[in-house]
Amino acid sequence: MSHRFDGKVIWVTGASGALGRATAVLLAERGATVVASGRSVASTDFGGAAGIDRLPVDVTDTADVTRAYAELIARHGRIDGLVASTNVGAFGDFLDLADEDWLKVIQAKLLGSARPARAILPALIAQGSGAIVLISGRGGIEPPPQHFPGSTVNAALDLLVQGLGRRYGPDGVRTNAVDPGPIQSPRMASMADSGTVNIFRKTALAGPGLPIDVAEAVAYLLSDAAKFVNGTRLYVDGGGAPYA
Ligand SMILES: NC(=O)c1ccc[n+]([C@@H]2O[C@H](COP(=O)([O-])OP(=O)(O)OC[C@H]3O[C@@H](n4cnc5c(N)ncnc54)[C@H](OP(=O)(O)O)[C@@H]3O)[C@@H](O)[C@H]2O)c1
Repeated sequence: MSHRFDGKVIWVTGASGALGRATAVLLAERGATVVASGRSVASTDFGGAAGIDRLPVDVTDTADVTRAYAELIARHGRIDGLVASTNVGAFGDFLDLADEDWLKVIQAKLLGSARPARAILPALIAQGSGAIVLISGRGGIEPPPQHFPGSTVNAALDLLVQGLGRRYGPDGVRTNAVDPGPIQSPRMASMADSGTVNIFRKTALAGPGLPIDVAEAVAYLLSDAAKFVNGTRLYVDGGGAPYA
């Protein structure tokens, strides 16, 4: 049984990326009004899916996130959920990565997830309902050697959802993470090219996974079917690396 989101307004950041785009399309197909964000979202091809409203935003800029959220409310009048799926690439050996490489991942993914969550939480608390899903990553428990900034931020997001879940669960707001493993995407291809991962070895199932696999997990966590799931993470990683 598919979960329906009729009447719900869900903000998807990173909707111009592979996983955010698949999530936006799936949620819209299931009845949600999806507000799709990204700096380049104006040119994103959503395959003609109905119910997707494009709202460009730069998640590294607190004022721009505040502006975008105000615009979302002006257009749609309510907010029911957030999917935060932003990041930038910073791959390389620890000794070769500079502060700037770390800072851009912290800005785009850690603070880039925290800012929209902070923007919408007062409304969710006031209405006593809502769900937040942060896209983290398996690197948070198994950091690939060329991916320490992203993996470190994933671990931080895993902790953040636990904290937010406990802090705002009593207000009716659930917060969880989806932690993908290798998913077929331009991002994964660039990691494979840089030698960061062997996408064919790092999963116990035939892999890599597909963006729709992540989108389905997000839809579950946003839905009432997950009404007792809070402050935790759901791995979508084929079970991790197989035992030799
Ligand atoms: N793909 C995988 O296999 C995999 C595995 C584990 C974890 N993840 C995580 O899953 C998430 C999505 O991955 P993906 O493969 O979909 O990555 P992607 O295709 O590179 O998408 C990244 C998204 O982040 C947005 N973004 C970056 N900086 C932004 C900014 N300053 N303001 C607003 N939006 C910004 C990009 O939009 P604009 O450029 O238009 O701004 C884009 O929509 C990431 O957090 C990634 O680390 C992915």
